[in-house]
Amino acid sequence: MSGARKVGVVLGSGLGAFADTLDNPVVTPYAEIPGWPRSTAIGHAGKLVEGSVHGTEVVVLAGRAHLYEGYTAQQAVFGIRALKKMGVDSVILTNAAGGVNVKFGAGSLVLISDHINLLGQNPLTGPNDDTLGPRFPDMSEAYSKSYREIARAAGKEMGLDLPEGVYAAVPGPSYETPAEIRYMRTIGADLVGMSTVPETIAANHMGMRVLGISCVTNAAAGVLDQKLNHTEVLEVGERMKGTLIELLRRIIPKLV
Ligand code: HPA
Repeated sequence: MSGARKVGVVLGSGLGAFADTLDNPVVTPYAEIPGWPRSTAIGHAGKLVEGSVHGTEVVVLAGRAHLYEGYTAQQAVFGIRALKKMGVDSVILTNAAGGVNVKFGAGSLVLISDHINLLGQNPLTGPNDDTLGPRFPDMSEAYSKSYREIARAAGKEMGLDLPEGVYAAVPGPSYETPAEIRYMRTIGADLVGMSTVPETIAANHMGMRVLGISCVTNAAAGVLDQKLNHTEVLEVGERMKGTLIELLRRIIPKLV
């Protein structure tokens, strides 16, 4: 049976493998779509894949545009706006993140309950496109509560505990200093990363429902006595991809 909703999935750094698990995949490289910002980040494929998961239609964005690549927040939401135009109303945003909360070590999967925008940019700055959404969109449940419940139930089927946390977005590309991480902890962040927030803002603007999943690839700066590097982020993402794929495949048919 075909699901009522078409589900969009945005895959974060090192998490692109899910795109290769869809049934009846149709792949379009971003380079072939006029206006699509190319993903230059290592670990990001740069393709749109349409297909299905257990009969539910899915559109996957494997690779996204980040502010650290030099893109504006407006450019970073090109993909999510394209998903909406393709009939997607439910979107799962995944990312690799640092664990600010010491409870979230490398290898943790965390449901995003809310976010703090430290990017210094908002994708809705400038004239409002009233055909997309209101000038001042509400953000009081930016990450759907019911979707988090669905995700937690799917995790439970796998024996997976899925805690919740607040995601702080920073522009990067330098990792944070230990002082910046202490600051983020003080203001209520549990996770830190360089993506997702512009997409969540644009999705809420367009009335889409969002599920956010962070793959904690490392303890944030200063938590452990060790340096951070992107290779580690990709390696841990690679190790977590099997669990994430199974989780996504269980969640997708249940999103209503
Ligand atoms: N900081 C910012 N972004 C990240 C991190 C981090 O520690 N890990 C993965 N993405």
